[in-house]
Amino acid sequence: MMHLSIGGVYQKLLSIRPPSPDDPFVVMDVGTGTGRVIHDLESNAIISGTEVDNVEIIGVDNSQHMLDKAHAITTGILKDCVSWVHGSALNLRNVMESRQHQKVDLLIFSIGSISHLSEPGQPEGFLEEVSKVLRPGTGRAYVSIYDGSLLNPEEKISFHQPPGVSEIHSNTYPSIVYRESNHRGDLNGNVKYVKFGLEVVNVENQSVLERNEISMKMRQWRKDELVDLASKTDLVFVENFKGTHETFYVFKIAVEAGSRHL
Ligand SMILES: C[S@@+](CC[C@H](N)C(=O)[O-])C[C@H]1O[C@@H](n2cnc3c(N)ncnc32)[C@H](O)[C@@H]1O
Repeated sequence: MMHLSIGGVYQKLLSIRPPSPDDPFVVMDVGTGTGRVIHDLESNAIISGTEVDNVEIIGVDNSQHMLDKAHAITTGILKDCVSWVHGSALNLRNVMESRQHQKVDLLIFSIGSISHLSEPGQPEGFLEEVSKVLRPGTGRAYVSIYDGSLLNPEEKISFHQPPGVSEIHSNTYPSIVYRESNHRGDLNGNVKYVKFGLEVVNVENQSVLERNEISMKMRQWRKDELVDLASKTDLVFVENFKGTHETFYVFKIAVEAGSRHL
C-alpha cells in the first residue's frame, strides 16, 4: 500500500488526459460538506489560474446547509469555477444529466463518508452510479473507508475516538474548538449506531456557544468488502492507498464496459 495525496492524483490524471475548454477535466467531490477536499486542491496551488478554464469542479452533497456554508467560505479562483450541487451519492446520473460535460475524470468520496450509506443496497447503488458517470479509460474514483469503521472480528465493537474528551480546533475561527465527549454506540450487524456530545466552545472565555447530542448510523465494513461489491458493477479495482485514518480504494471502468459507455 502507498500513501495518497489527492493533489498528486489530480496532477497525474490531468497529465494523462490533458483537457481543453471544450473538453474539460471534471472533478466530482461526493459528500463535499463544506468543501474541504476541493479547498485543499486550491490551497496546494494545484488548480492554478491558467488551468481553471479547463477544469470543472462539482461539490455534491445532500445537505443544502453544508453547501451554503461551502459556497460562503469559497474565495479566490475557485469562487467562480466550482458548482455546489444539491444531490445524492445515490443518484449521480441525475447530477450530471443537466451538465454539458457529463463524464467525470476524478471522483472522490473522502473520509469514510460512504459509511453514511447505511441502508441495505445503498453502497452497491452508489458504486453503480459511479460506474455510470466515470469516464471510461482514464477516469478514476477514489472511495475511502475509515479505519474505525472496519469490523473487527476479535471485538464486539471498536471506536476510533479516544475515550474521554477530544477537541478539534476550527480552521476558520482561531478561538473556537469543537469538543466531543462521551462517545458510545451499539453495533447491529454491519451498522454502528454512534452517539456523542458536541459542544462549540470559545476557548478565550470557555463559553459554550452551542451544545448538541449527535446520533449517527454508520455502515461498517469487512476488509475488502468494497472491492467485492464493486466487482458486481462495471467498475474494476485498481489499487488502494493508506491514509492516516482511512484507506482509499481506486476504481476505473472495466475495459469491456468502457466501449458500451462511450
Ligand atoms: C464526514 S462529511 C465529509 C465532508 C468532506 N468531504 C470532508 O472530507 O471533510 C460527510 C458529508 O457527506 C454528506 N452526505 C451524507 N450522505 C450523503 C448522500 N447520500 N449523498 C450526498 N452527500 C451525503 C453529508 O451531508 C456530509 O456533508
